[in-house]
Amino acid sequence: MHFAMPPRKTSRPPPYAARNSRPYIPLWLKNRIRRPGQPRVVVVGCLVLIVLIWLLRGSGPDNGVGLATPVIGTGAPIVIVTVLDQKKSPGWIEAIKKNREDYARRHGYKTFFPNNTDYPLRGAPSSWAKIPALRHAMTLHPTASFFWSLDPTALIMNSNIALHTSLLTPQHLERVMIVNEPIVPPDSVIKTFGNLKGDRIDVVVTQDKDGLTQSSFLVKNGEWAKYFLDAWFDPIYRSYNFQKAEAHALEHLVQWHGTILAKLALVPQNLLNSYASGPAHLKHGQYKEGDIVANFPGCDKEKRNCADEMEPFLAILRGEKN
Ligand SMILES: *[C@@H]1O[C@H](CO)[C@@H](O)[C@H](O)[C@H]1NC(C)=O
Repeated sequence: MHFAMPPRKTSRPPPYAARNSRPYIPLWLKNRIRRPGQPRVVVVGCLVLIVLIWLLRGSGPDNGVGLATPVIGTGAPIVIVTVLDQKKSPGWIEAIKKNREDYARRHGYKTFFPNNTDYPLRGAPSSWAKIPALRHAMTLHPTASFFWSLDPTALIMNSNIALHTSLLTPQHLERVMIVNEPIVPPDSVIKTFGNLKGDRIDVVVTQDKDGLTQSSFLVKNGEWAKYFLDAWFDPIYRSYNFQKAEAHALEHLVQWHGTILAKLALVPQNLLNSYASGPAHLKHGQYKEGDIVANFPGCDKEKRNCADEMEPFLAILRGEKN
């Protein structure tokens, strides 16, 4: 069995060129150079040309790095990702998009509005689509700093608040993050860590009265975010039929994987996800004027209507009431 294995390959080129002071000339070329009657000067000229091209390519300003590897942090500070359901009323969908676009334009952020039918979920509830949507957004905006997953059940109400400067800096995160808090209220044994550094945080979430919320959260662009999202989107979680789908999968993930808990900042609900209706966190979850987000969790479910529930808030945003 041993011999059936192919030799291991690395991506590094063999070190011939560096070690030998004399240039390496392949045998076929040596033979060709020595063959009588061949114009040696042409062959040598070709070699010189090849070496020149190689040198120029290697010393250019891009030298592989600039072109091939996008530098995280050089693009939009935040990309807002809202997954839409095209079965809802077109007017309301437009209002939701405009709500994000107005805010994004103001702070130099970007938006991304995929459809909930864009990703194969293999029968899992369509609310799961937000996870592949974030992965998709990361490929479209590889230089962005953060991705904000915001459900269509939420409205951005205060566009003065720029999250990348008012919440996402290490100093702000350290000041507001809630430590030693049970992940699942009121008294689950797993609690948020107490000694996290703000610059080590990769995911920012809030908690409502019942547990972690996933209707408005932020992930920092990078390899860790990819791992986190892929772990969350695991087929076993999707098919497990958690009562609250991806929300309970997230709680499971955070409680069972210390590596994820160590990257997570739990912040007061009203900094990212105030509820205009629904089970708000008792201390800091209820929407009040000035909060960045008013969420109507579940308004997209049967028998409810987000457009109707949001109408008084949309009127405020349109400037009709104030
Ligand atoms: C979502 O669906 C709508 C209507 O079918 C379409 O116009 C839009 O381009 C789709 N969005 C994306 C990101 O594919």
